[in-house]
Amino acid sequence: MEKLLEVKNLCVNFNTYGGEVQAVRGVTFDLHKGETLAIVGESGSGKSVACKTIMRILSANGYIKDGEILFDGKDLTKLSESEMEKLRGKDIAMIFQDPMTSLNPTMTIGKQIMEGIVKHQGLGKDEAKTKAIELIDLVGISEPEKRFKQYPHQFSGGMRQRIVIAISLACNPKVLIADEPTTALDVTIQAQILELMKDLQEKTEAALIFITHDLGVVANMADRVAVMYAGKIVEYGTSSDIFYNPQHPYTWGLLGSMPTLDIGDNDLYNIPGTPPDLMHPPKGDAFSLRSDFALKIDGLAEPPMFKVSDTHYAATWLLHPLAKKTEKPINVSRKKVSIDE
Ligand SMILES: Nc1ncnc2c1ncn2[C@@H]1O[C@H](COP(=O)(O)OP(=O)(O)OP(=O)(O)O)[C@@H](O)[C@H]1O
Ligand SMILES: [Mg+2]
Repeated sequence: MEKLLEVKNLCVNFNTYGGEVQAVRGVTFDLHKGETLAIVGESGSGKSVACKTIMRILSANGYIKDGEILFDGKDLTKLSESEMEKLRGKDIAMIFQDPMTSLNPTMTIGKQIMEGIVKHQGLGKDEAKTKAIELIDLVGISEPEKRFKQYPHQFSGGMRQRIVIAISLACNPKVLIADEPTTALDVTIQAQILELMKDLQEKTEAALIFITHDLGVVANMADRVAVMYAGKIVEYGTSSDIFYNPQHPYTWGLLGSMPTLDIGDNDLYNIPGTPPDLMHPPKGDAFSLRSDFALKIDGLAEPPMFKVSDTHYAATWLLHPLAKKTEKPINVSRKKVSIDE
């Protein structure tokens, strides 16, 4: 399949009073045309920073220390701000968690959708208006002409996120990055928005990078999954590789803490311990400090990416031919947990 985006050995640091935070530590992945790649991992694992770096919207204290981001024959890490400006929204668009912060409360939503269309597609006002109304309709909002003239506060949270999606799709981006687009919404609305995104993606053939800490969301959405921990990708593969044949103890932990339908929250099991301090990342396997499956070598050297299959890779010493074979914990196999367990 054709590669649309290639991220190679991306390293991103932040300067802070306390020292340098190594938020992204050598991330490599690619994105094919039209596919959905999910990036999953606990809070602080570097998911948002990695994707904001692709958009080059890091906060002022952040910088790209190393690596390449290849898109359409260009290395995005080397583009000037004005070159990036042309690309942002048009070729690569991003949707954030909280739709309210992405919308301007003082402007009608019609105008906000039209802005990008006028800027990037050079359409006249009337054409842009027609397209904006079409988009409002496309994201499943009724009475689009009436809605066109309204302000964000006249929309519910789920509707606002639909509008944000409409804005992001206005210029037919090749890559859409959705950073936890549904976490601020209630569960039923979440499901509707996910369905909408999936549907629109099929129609527009945009490639989607979907960021979430909830593996449950990923199962029905993603073609491939990249699992991030402490600024690194520790395992990646197709959805079925990750769900049915996970190899990294961290992925086991994430699968074990997945909420089940009959309970609806994830308080039952959380991975014990906390992620490491990224100002002083540990030597060796960063997850081993929290893992029941740690080997002696984990504290000494960082595991390379071991190949599990042509589609599946994981960075854990457990995959070394000399490592003792480990039984995966049973809660990995997505067993149903009953309330009184
Ligand atoms: N502006 C900043 N200055 C210093 N450190 C930062 C800054 N932004 C992010 N970080 C650090 O970078 C690391 C990765 O953060 P990031 O926001 O990418 O995590 P995440 O995986 O998106 O988490 P979440 O699920 O909570 O959104 C964290 O340790 C965070 O504290
Ligand atoms: Mg984030």
